[in-house]
Amino acid sequence: MDLIKDIDIISAEEAQACDYKTTPDENTGKTKKLYIESYGCQMNFSDSEIVASIMKENGFDTTSDFNQADVVFLNTCSIREKAEQTVRNRLNHFNAVKKHKPEMTIGVLGCMAERLKEKLLEEEKIVDVVVGPDAYRDLPNLVAVAEEGQKAVNTFLSREETYADIAPVRLNSNGVTAFISIMRGCDNMCSFCVVPFTRGRERSRDPHSIVAEAQDLFSKGYREVTLLGQNVDSYKWSPEENNKARLNKKEDEVSQVVNFAHLLEMVAQVSPLLRVRFSTSHPKDITDEVLHTMKKYDNICKYIHLPVQSGNSRVLELMNRTYDREWYLDRVKAIREILGEECGISSDMIAGFCTETEEEHQDTLSLMDIVQYDFSYMFYYSERPGTLAAKKFVDDIPLEVKKRRLAEIIDRQNQLSLQRNKLDVGKEQLILIEGTSKKSQSELKGRNSANKVVIVPAQGLKMGDYVKVRITDCSAATLFGEVLEINPSLV
Ligand code: SAH
Ligand code: SF4
Ligand code: F3S
Repeated sequence: MDLIKDIDIISAEEAQACDYKTTPDENTGKTKKLYIESYGCQMNFSDSEIVASIMKENGFDTTSDFNQADVVFLNTCSIREKAEQTVRNRLNHFNAVKKHKPEMTIGVLGCMAERLKEKLLEEEKIVDVVVGPDAYRDLPNLVAVAEEGQKAVNTFLSREETYADIAPVRLNSNGVTAFISIMRGCDNMCSFCVVPFTRGRERSRDPHSIVAEAQDLFSKGYREVTLLGQNVDSYKWSPEENNKARLNKKEDEVSQVVNFAHLLEMVAQVSPLLRVRFSTSHPKDITDEVLHTMKKYDNICKYIHLPVQSGNSRVLELMNRTYDREWYLDRVKAIREILGEECGISSDMIAGFCTETEEEHQDTLSLMDIVQYDFSYMFYYSERPGTLAAKKFVDDIPLEVKKRRLAEIIDRQNQLSLQRNKLDVGKEQLILIEGTSKKSQSELKGRNSANKVVIVPAQGLKMGDYVKVRITDCSAATLFGEVLEINPSLV
């Protein structure tokens, strides 16, 4: 059991997600340098691209070397205790750097900034600026205040801000795949979750600005967009509901409510050569209409991230997920009926939530068996201050038990992933080439529609190619393929 001592999240993707991303070197002749380190989820990484864009307008080029930076931002995550601890360790590290460069401005952005507000200035003396996720337009002012030697805080949460008019500066881009935020905030009050407190109320972004961003990306050579929201299925936009004043010109064009299925269709119509993905789907809200739209368009990838959190109805109720085991399994049945066995399904799971019994934990394992997840992000419960669960329940499952249950969930997922991947061997699939293989220079990696990584020999291929492959082999994490045809006709 020693092996799992320090595990609290597992899966290749999540290991990556808990890693931070930095800004690239950019030299467009601006006078100052900005370095951003981004933690947490894809929405946070997306926000850093908005931040870079706002700062660029105000005289900053990005740098990958914080020693060169005039301004250092940490765009932070609060989802689990460990995420916050990582940021605090990083601030200690920057403290040493700042000793030699006292004029450097250090800002904490994102969810931890929003959660702790001014308190962060008291707790971490090195921090000059604290800015929440809805206040990024104010960053240039706040940095200017800090440059005058004062501390600056803005953690105002907005009901309207979607940054719809800001063209993100693509950071760490492979030039093929990009993320587009379609909404912000979350109105679900899952009892374990800090996001509604750090990101505020849910609001949807103007669909025209989303389609325009997808078109722009496509014209620049991108071939895949992922539409991002905490709960994409509750996307809802209408001129009446959204800020009319800002959109008066477009009022005639959009006279009815645009829901997520409509939006998906609008983005899919940008080009048959532009793949569309989305995340995250909430089991209570995903509709058959969305599933039918997915079926209608070949370029909408057949993959759904549908976090279950627990396989037991009592625990789901305590979690305030507002669905039960039967409802969830019914949604999976609808996915299988409409989109077939090949549609990828992944999940998030929390082990050891307050009062969870061994039998209830077994229900999570049995649900995994029934659904046959392709992969999962798996965590043990970490109590977050201020959440409903922290107020109402005792975090009573001992850490060793949480870790053991998590290990069992991980073990089960590894078996399922291998089982599911084996079903792909021998099949012909279409992949989009998006990068080089980590292991070998002579191999490239792409993804199939179900979001699985497929490794192929690099010869004759380039980034952004669509390739018809035959799957020849697999591990639990990866498929291996041989090339059958490069850029087959998709129109
Ligand atoms: N909006 C998404 C989830 C965003 S947070 C959804 O509803 O599915 C990503 C994942 O982090 C969650 O799905 C959950 O599995 C995990 N998570 C959130 N809060 C947590 C906590 N307090 N402890 C452990 N894991 C947590
Ligand atoms: Fe958190 Fe629930 Fe909202 Fe997801 S849906 S962000 S888990 S509150
Ligand atoms: Fe973390 Fe905030 Fe995302 S808490 S997971 S960065 S929304």
